[in-house]
Amino acid sequence: MRLAQCHNFHDFRRLARDRLPGPIFDYIDGGADDETTLRRNSASFEHCDLLPNVLRGVQQVDLSVTVMGQKLAQPFYCSPTALQRLFHHDGERAVAAAAAKYGTMFGVSSLGTVSLEELRKAYDTPQVYQFYFHRDRGLNRAMMQRAKEAGVEVMMLTVDSITGGNRERDLRTGFSIPFRLTLAGMLQFAIKPNWGIQYLTHEKFRLPQLEEHVDMSGGAMSIGRYFTEMLDPAMNWDDVAEMVRTWNGPFCLKGIMSVDDARRAVDIGCAGIVLSNHGGRQLDGSRSAFDQLAEIVDAVGDRIDVMMDGGIQRGTHILKALSLGAKAVGLGRYYLYPLAAAGQPGVERALGQLRAELERGMKLMGCNSISQLSRANLRFRPG
Ligand code: LAC
Repeated sequence: MRLAQCHNFHDFRRLARDRLPGPIFDYIDGGADDETTLRRNSASFEHCDLLPNVLRGVQQVDLSVTVMGQKLAQPFYCSPTALQRLFHHDGERAVAAAAAKYGTMFGVSSLGTVSLEELRKAYDTPQVYQFYFHRDRGLNRAMMQRAKEAGVEVMMLTVDSITGGNRERDLRTGFSIPFRLTLAGMLQFAIKPNWGIQYLTHEKFRLPQLEEHVDMSGGAMSIGRYFTEMLDPAMNWDDVAEMVRTWNGPFCLKGIMSVDDARRAVDIGCAGIVLSNHGGRQLDGSRSAFDQLAEIVDAVGDRIDVMMDGGIQRGTHILKALSLGAKAVGLGRYYLYPLAAAGQPGVERALGQLRAELERGMKLMGCNSISQLSRANLRFRPG
């Protein structure tokens, strides 16, 4: 299978599976526990029907939106995700370049593999910094200061990862940083030698957001241990309120699901919330963001920008989320499989396809601007 044969999410996923060593593919692909939430994230769009209008003059379609003060050429952005240079040697560089080409926002993770400063200098499209709350308050302040000085626009605190999710695929393969593979995991690397050649012949793998502040070299600091040992499970609303004041710019909480929490995010001055279950990788059995969207938009949608992520695979999924009141949606696996499959050309192709699907969907819905989408365009089927 080749890039030119990838026409949708599923094609890119297959190509990524062909190219990546099994443990890395499973790290991207997997979810927590029984992966119920992971499956439901995409399935949740299926019990919602679109109700189109016709004969409305749709030769021009404007897909642009403004979210948290950032102008995006279309209502989707590349959410921050960890470890991208493991998936393709260009990692975040490829994703940021593709996001810039499509005039949209991209995220850099605390567990990112290219420095937030390098990416900020290279592209002028809006940049989000994904942040975890560490036990060491001085470290939190230093990391925020660094992002501020670099010119990052939006601070995005992940609040659904107070402890690591139970990812049993990773337990089986021994996926950790640095690698501590099981024998079965090692064999899976041996049968994908191309990945190994790319990995060894490019710049050394690093975690530049953390390495200045955290010793990640002593032994195997697995993702699970980073969550369990470095991050602060005592984090509460007062801590976050202080961070919002310190940041003094657009601040967003990723992983809000309840109305109570959404209201508190408004109260402490957040500019946005992202409804998210972390791609089904944290609390299995958690509701899908799409199913929970209307309740949150009704409660706080007039006071804060509500976004969502999880399970977006099609332009029509985005149409449904926006019709319910989301201001934009985040993509994760949607761009990670193309990154793994083909680097920057892969991500560009995937984002281009999503944009084309959205534009086609808008025309078929009889809408020429995002603001025309509303709940009048939706009907829900039981089950
Ligand atoms: C994950 C974290 C790192 O889902 O965001 O793996």
